[in-house]
Amino acid sequence: MSDHWLQAPPADSGESLSKIDTSVAHIARVYDYWLGGKDNFAPDRAAAEAAMREDPNVVEGVRGNRAFLARAVRYLAGEAGIRQFLDIGTGIPAADNTHEVAQDVAPECRVVYVDNDPIVLAHARALLTTGSEGATAYLDEDLRNVPEIVAAAAGTLDLTQPVAVMLIGILHCIPDEDDPAGIVKQLMDAVPAGSYLAISHPANDINNPGIRKLASKLNELMPMKLRFRSRAQVAAFFDGLELVEPGLVRAPEWRPDAGTDLANPAALWGGVARKN
Ligand SMILES: C[S@@+](CC[C@H](N)C(=O)[O-])C[C@H]1O[C@@H](n2cnc3c(N)ncnc32)[C@H](O)[C@@H]1O
Repeated sequence: MSDHWLQAPPADSGESLSKIDTSVAHIARVYDYWLGGKDNFAPDRAAAEAAMREDPNVVEGVRGNRAFLARAVRYLAGEAGIRQFLDIGTGIPAADNTHEVAQDVAPECRVVYVDNDPIVLAHARALLTTGSEGATAYLDEDLRNVPEIVAAAAGTLDLTQPVAVMLIGILHCIPDEDDPAGIVKQLMDAVPAGSYLAISHPANDINNPGIRKLASKLNELMPMKLRFRSRAQVAAFFDGLELVEPGLVRAPEWRPDAGTDLANPAALWGGVARKN
Protein backbone atom coordinates (compact mmCIF):
# COMPACT_ATOMS: atom_id res chain seq x y z
CA MET A 1 0.00 0.00 0.00
CA SER A 2 1.43 3.40 -1.04
CA ASP A 3 2.42 5.90 1.61
CA HIS A 4 0.16 8.33 -0.26
CA TRP A 5 -2.80 6.28 0.81
CA LEU A 6 -4.92 7.27 3.76
CA GLN A 7 -7.47 4.94 5.27
CA ALA A 8 -7.57 7.03 8.41
CA PRO A 9 -7.33 10.78 9.01
CA PRO A 10 -3.76 12.11 9.20
CA ALA A 11 -2.81 12.80 12.79
CA ASP A 12 -1.06 15.98 11.76
CA SER A 13 -1.49 17.67 8.42
CA GLY A 14 1.59 19.87 8.96
CA GLU A 15 3.82 17.89 6.61
CA SER A 16 1.39 18.08 3.70
CA LEU A 17 0.72 21.77 4.38
CA SER A 18 4.45 22.46 4.14
CA LYS A 19 4.33 21.22 0.50
CA ILE A 20 1.87 23.93 -0.50
CA ASP A 21 3.28 26.69 -2.68
CA THR A 22 1.22 29.68 -1.59
CA SER A 23 3.15 32.11 -3.81
CA VAL A 24 1.16 31.14 -6.91
CA ALA A 25 -2.53 30.54 -7.53
CA HIS A 26 -3.81 26.96 -7.61
CA ILE A 27 -7.07 25.78 -9.16
CA ALA A 28 -8.29 23.98 -5.99
CA ARG A 29 -7.92 27.17 -3.92
CA VAL A 30 -9.24 29.50 -6.64
CA TYR A 31 -12.29 27.24 -6.84
CA ASP A 32 -12.56 27.26 -3.04
CA TYR A 33 -12.61 31.09 -3.11
CA TRP A 34 -15.40 31.12 -5.71
CA LEU A 35 -17.40 28.74 -3.50
CA GLY A 36 -16.98 31.07 -0.50
CA GLY A 37 -14.37 28.88 1.26
CA LYS A 38 -11.53 30.06 3.49
CA ASP A 39 -8.75 27.77 2.23
CA ASN A 40 -7.10 30.19 -0.15
CA PHE A 41 -4.21 32.65 -0.19
CA ALA A 42 -3.65 36.11 -1.70
CA PRO A 43 -2.53 34.87 -5.17
CA ASP A 44 -5.56 32.54 -5.32
CA ARG A 45 -7.92 35.38 -4.42
CA ALA A 46 -6.28 37.70 -6.94
CA ALA A 47 -6.64 35.13 -9.73
CA ALA A 48 -10.23 34.33 -8.72
CA GLU A 49 -11.17 38.02 -8.67
CA ALA A 50 -9.46 38.67 -12.01
CA ALA A 51 -11.38 35.76 -13.53
CA MET A 52 -14.63 37.11 -12.07
CA ARG A 53 -14.00 40.41 -13.82
CA GLU A 54 -13.59 38.56 -17.13
CA ASP A 55 -16.66 36.40 -16.59
CA PRO A 56 -19.15 37.68 -14.00
CA ASN A 57 -21.03 34.34 -14.27
CA VAL A 58 -18.17 32.26 -12.93
CA VAL A 59 -19.31 32.08 -9.28
CA GLU A 60 -22.82 31.03 -10.28
CA GLY A 61 -21.23 28.61 -12.72
CA VAL A 62 -19.15 26.79 -10.09
CA ARG A 63 -22.25 26.52 -7.92
CA GLY A 64 -23.94 25.00 -10.96
CA ASN A 65 -21.07 22.51 -11.18
CA ARG A 66 -21.50 21.47 -7.52
CA ALA A 67 -25.25 21.10 -8.09
CA PHE A 68 -24.56 18.87 -11.11
CA LEU A 69 -22.19 16.76 -8.97
CA ALA A 70 -24.91 16.27 -6.34
CA ARG A 71 -27.62 15.41 -8.91
CA ALA A 72 -25.30 12.95 -10.68
CA VAL A 73 -24.38 11.19 -7.40
CA ARG A 74 -28.03 11.08 -6.34
CA TYR A 75 -28.95 9.52 -9.68
CA LEU A 76 -26.07 7.02 -9.48
CA ALA A 77 -26.75 5.91 -5.90
CA GLY A 78 -30.52 6.05 -6.46
CA GLU A 79 -31.86 5.04 -9.87
CA ALA A 80 -28.63 3.38 -11.06
CA GLY A 81 -28.09 1.49 -7.78
CA ILE A 82 -24.35 2.23 -7.59
CA ARG A 83 -22.68 1.65 -4.20
CA GLN A 84 -19.04 2.44 -5.03
CA PHE A 85 -17.58 5.78 -6.15
CA LEU A 86 -14.09 6.76 -7.32
CA ASP A 87 -14.06 10.57 -7.20
CA ILE A 88 -10.91 11.99 -8.81
CA GLY A 89 -10.26 15.73 -8.46
CA THR A 90 -12.08 15.88 -5.15
CA GLY A 91 -11.41 19.53 -4.38
CA ILE A 92 -11.45 21.21 -1.00
CA PRO A 93 -14.51 19.95 0.89
CA ALA A 94 -17.62 22.04 0.25
CA ALA A 95 -21.33 21.44 0.67
CA ASP A 96 -22.65 18.10 -0.66
CA ASN A 97 -19.43 16.15 -1.04
CA THR A 98 -19.79 12.88 -2.95
CA HIS A 99 -19.78 10.61 0.13
CA GLU A 100 -22.40 12.75 1.89
CA VAL A 101 -24.81 12.69 -1.06
CA ALA A 102 -24.21 8.99 -1.82
CA GLN A 103 -24.46 7.81 1.81
CA ASP A 104 -27.58 9.91 2.27
CA VAL A 105 -29.20 7.76 -0.42
CA ALA A 106 -27.53 4.47 0.63
CA PRO A 107 -25.44 4.51 3.84
CA GLU A 108 -23.41 1.49 2.70
CA CYS A 109 -21.82 3.44 -0.19
CA ARG A 110 -18.01 3.26 -0.37
CA VAL A 111 -16.15 6.29 -1.72
CA VAL A 112 -12.51 6.72 -2.68
CA TYR A 113 -11.36 10.30 -3.19
CA VAL A 114 -8.25 11.17 -5.20
CA ASP A 115 -6.55 14.56 -5.57
CA ASN A 116 -2.95 15.73 -5.99
CA ASP A 117 -3.19 19.04 -4.15
CA PRO A 118 -1.62 19.10 -0.66
CA ILE A 119 -4.32 21.40 0.70
CA VAL A 120 -7.00 18.88 -0.29
CA LEU A 121 -4.89 16.22 1.45
CA ALA A 122 -4.82 18.40 4.56
CA HIS A 123 -8.64 18.23 4.52
CA ALA A 124 -8.77 14.47 4.14
CA ARG A 125 -10.00 14.28 7.73
CA ALA A 126 -13.25 16.02 6.72
CA LEU A 127 -13.61 13.74 3.71
CA LEU A 128 -13.06 10.56 5.68
CA THR A 129 -15.99 10.92 8.04
CA THR A 130 -18.49 8.23 7.27
CA GLY A 131 -21.26 6.24 8.89
CA SER A 132 -20.44 2.78 10.20
CA GLU A 133 -22.11 1.07 7.23
CA GLY A 134 -20.12 2.78 4.48
CA ALA A 135 -16.48 3.71 3.94
CA THR A 136 -14.47 6.61 2.60
CA ALA A 137 -10.77 6.75 1.83
CA TYR A 138 -8.46 9.36 0.39
CA LEU A 139 -5.59 8.93 -2.05
CA ASP A 140 -2.95 11.62 -2.68
CA GLU A 141 -2.28 10.86 -6.34
CA ASP A 142 -2.24 12.37 -9.82
CA LEU A 143 -5.02 11.50 -12.27
CA ARG A 144 -2.31 10.68 -14.82
CA ASN A 145 -1.17 7.73 -12.67
CA VAL A 146 -4.10 5.42 -13.36
CA PRO A 147 -2.42 2.08 -12.47
CA GLU A 148 -1.44 3.45 -9.02
CA ILE A 149 -4.95 4.85 -8.47
CA VAL A 150 -6.61 1.60 -9.43
CA ALA A 151 -4.28 -0.54 -7.30
CA ALA A 152 -4.84 1.64 -4.24
CA ALA A 153 -8.59 2.02 -4.79
CA ALA A 154 -8.88 -1.77 -4.71
CA GLY A 155 -8.08 -1.52 -1.00
CA THR A 156 -11.50 0.04 -0.39
CA LEU A 157 -13.57 -0.77 -3.49
CA ASP A 158 -14.43 -4.18 -4.89
CA LEU A 159 -13.42 -3.70 -8.51
CA THR A 160 -15.36 -6.80 -9.59
CA GLN A 161 -18.52 -4.80 -8.78
CA PRO A 162 -19.77 -1.63 -10.55
CA VAL A 163 -18.09 1.66 -9.72
CA ALA A 164 -19.03 5.23 -10.62
CA VAL A 165 -15.93 7.06 -11.81
CA MET A 166 -16.42 10.77 -11.11
CA LEU A 167 -14.33 13.24 -13.14
CA ILE A 168 -16.08 16.44 -12.11
CA GLY A 169 -14.30 19.61 -13.11
CA ILE A 170 -10.87 17.97 -13.49
CA LEU A 171 -10.27 16.95 -17.12
CA HIS A 172 -9.71 20.59 -18.12
CA CYS A 173 -6.60 20.42 -15.88
CA ILE A 174 -5.17 17.72 -18.20
CA PRO A 175 -3.68 19.08 -21.44
CA ASP A 176 -4.14 17.19 -24.72
CA GLU A 177 -0.43 16.22 -24.64
CA ASP A 178 -1.17 14.11 -21.52
CA ASP A 179 -3.89 12.19 -23.42
CA PRO A 180 -6.96 12.77 -21.23
CA ALA A 181 -9.04 10.41 -23.42
CA GLY A 182 -6.46 7.66 -22.86
CA ILE A 183 -6.61 8.29 -19.10
CA VAL A 184 -10.41 7.99 -19.09
CA LYS A 185 -10.22 4.79 -21.14
CA GLN A 186 -7.66 3.25 -18.76
CA LEU A 187 -9.93 4.06 -15.81
CA MET A 188 -13.04 2.62 -17.45
CA ASP A 189 -11.12 -0.49 -18.54
CA ALA A 190 -10.34 -1.09 -14.84
CA VAL A 191 -14.01 -1.26 -13.78
CA PRO A 192 -16.59 -3.88 -14.75
CA ALA A 193 -19.69 -3.66 -16.96
CA GLY A 194 -22.46 -1.86 -15.11
CA SER A 195 -20.03 0.88 -14.02
CA TYR A 196 -20.62 4.54 -14.82
CA LEU A 197 -18.59 7.60 -15.81
CA ALA A 198 -19.69 11.12 -14.80
CA ILE A 199 -17.95 14.15 -16.28
CA SER A 200 -18.39 17.88 -16.07
CA HIS A 201 -16.07 20.02 -18.15
CA PRO A 202 -15.82 23.78 -18.85
CA ALA A 203 -16.92 24.54 -22.41
CA ASN A 204 -15.35 26.70 -25.08
CA ASP A 205 -18.43 26.53 -27.32
CA ILE A 206 -21.31 27.54 -25.06
CA ASN A 207 -22.37 31.06 -25.78
CA ASN A 208 -20.84 32.96 -22.92
CA PRO A 209 -18.74 35.91 -24.01
CA GLY A 210 -16.66 35.83 -20.81
CA ILE A 211 -15.57 32.21 -20.92
CA ARG A 212 -12.62 32.54 -23.32
CA LYS A 213 -11.34 35.60 -21.49
CA LEU A 214 -11.70 33.74 -18.19
CA ALA A 215 -9.64 30.79 -19.45
CA SER A 216 -6.84 32.98 -20.77
CA LYS A 217 -6.78 35.11 -17.61
CA LEU A 218 -6.45 32.01 -15.40
CA ASN A 219 -3.75 30.61 -17.67
CA GLU A 220 -1.90 33.89 -17.35
CA LEU A 221 -2.05 33.75 -13.54
CA MET A 222 -1.68 30.03 -12.72
CA PRO A 223 1.21 27.67 -13.48
CA MET A 224 -1.35 24.91 -14.18
CA LYS A 225 -2.75 25.49 -17.68
CA LEU A 226 -6.44 24.89 -18.20
CA ARG A 227 -7.98 23.63 -21.42
CA PHE A 228 -11.66 24.35 -22.00
CA ARG A 229 -13.16 22.01 -24.61
CA SER A 230 -16.01 21.77 -27.10
CA ARG A 231 -19.02 19.48 -26.78
CA ALA A 232 -17.53 17.15 -29.43
CA GLN A 233 -14.23 16.94 -27.52
CA VAL A 234 -16.00 16.17 -24.24
CA ALA A 235 -18.30 13.66 -25.99
CA ALA A 236 -15.18 11.78 -27.13
CA PHE A 237 -14.32 11.03 -23.47
CA PHE A 238 -17.50 8.90 -23.36
CA ASP A 239 -16.53 6.79 -26.40
CA GLY A 240 -17.65 3.18 -26.02
CA LEU A 241 -20.08 4.03 -23.19
CA GLU A 242 -23.83 4.64 -23.30
CA LEU A 243 -24.86 8.12 -22.20
CA VAL A 244 -27.94 8.09 -19.99
CA GLU A 245 -30.74 10.57 -20.66
CA PRO A 246 -30.55 13.45 -21.41
CA GLY A 247 -27.07 12.80 -22.83
CA LEU A 248 -24.24 15.30 -22.82
CA VAL A 249 -25.82 18.68 -22.15
CA ARG A 250 -25.09 21.96 -20.45
CA ALA A 251 -24.58 20.74 -16.86
CA PRO A 252 -27.50 22.73 -15.34
CA GLU A 253 -29.81 21.05 -17.89
CA TRP A 254 -28.81 17.54 -16.77
CA ARG A 255 -31.84 16.20 -14.84
CA PRO A 256 -32.54 19.57 -13.20
CA ASP A 257 -34.34 19.49 -9.87
CA ALA A 258 -35.98 22.83 -10.36
CA GLY A 259 -36.16 25.96 -12.45
CA THR A 260 -33.30 27.33 -10.38
CA ASP A 261 -30.98 24.69 -11.88
CA LEU A 262 -32.07 25.61 -15.41
CA ALA A 263 -31.49 29.29 -14.73
CA ASN A 264 -27.85 28.64 -13.77
CA PRO A 265 -25.53 30.16 -16.40
CA ALA A 266 -22.72 27.55 -16.11
CA ALA A 267 -20.82 27.14 -19.37
CA LEU A 268 -20.07 23.51 -18.62
CA TRP A 269 -20.74 20.24 -20.40
CA GLY A 270 -22.10 17.50 -18.14
CA GLY A 271 -23.00 13.87 -18.73
CA VAL A 272 -23.23 10.42 -17.17
CA ALA A 273 -22.70 7.21 -19.12
CA ARG A 274 -22.91 3.46 -18.46
CA LYS A 275 -20.36 0.82 -19.39
CA ASN A 276 -22.36 -2.06 -20.93
C1 LIG B 1 -12.01 22.69 -10.09
S1 LIG B 1 -11.63 21.60 -8.76
C2 LIG B 1 -13.08 20.55 -8.82
C3 LIG B 1 -13.43 19.96 -7.48
C4 LIG B 1 -14.66 19.06 -7.45
N1 LIG B 1 -14.53 17.88 -8.27
C5 LIG B 1 -15.89 19.81 -7.89
O1 LIG B 1 -16.29 19.68 -9.05
O2 LIG B 1 -16.43 20.57 -7.10
C6 LIG B 1 -10.40 20.56 -9.53
C7 LIG B 1 -9.68 19.63 -8.57
O3 LIG B 1 -8.90 18.72 -9.34
C8 LIG B 1 -7.61 18.59 -8.73
N2 LIG B 1 -6.65 18.21 -9.78
C9 LIG B 1 -6.25 18.95 -10.84
N3 LIG B 1 -5.39 18.25 -11.60
C10 LIG B 1 -5.23 17.05 -11.00
C11 LIG B 1 -4.47 15.89 -11.31
N4 LIG B 1 -3.70 15.84 -12.38
N5 LIG B 1 -4.56 14.82 -10.46
C12 LIG B 1 -5.35 14.87 -9.36
N6 LIG B 1 -6.10 15.93 -9.03
C13 LIG B 1 -6.04 17.01 -9.83
C14 LIG B 1 -7.33 19.95 -8.13
O4 LIG B 1 -6.38 19.88 -7.09
C15 LIG B 1 -8.72 20.35 -7.64
O5 LIG B 1 -8.93 19.92 -6.32
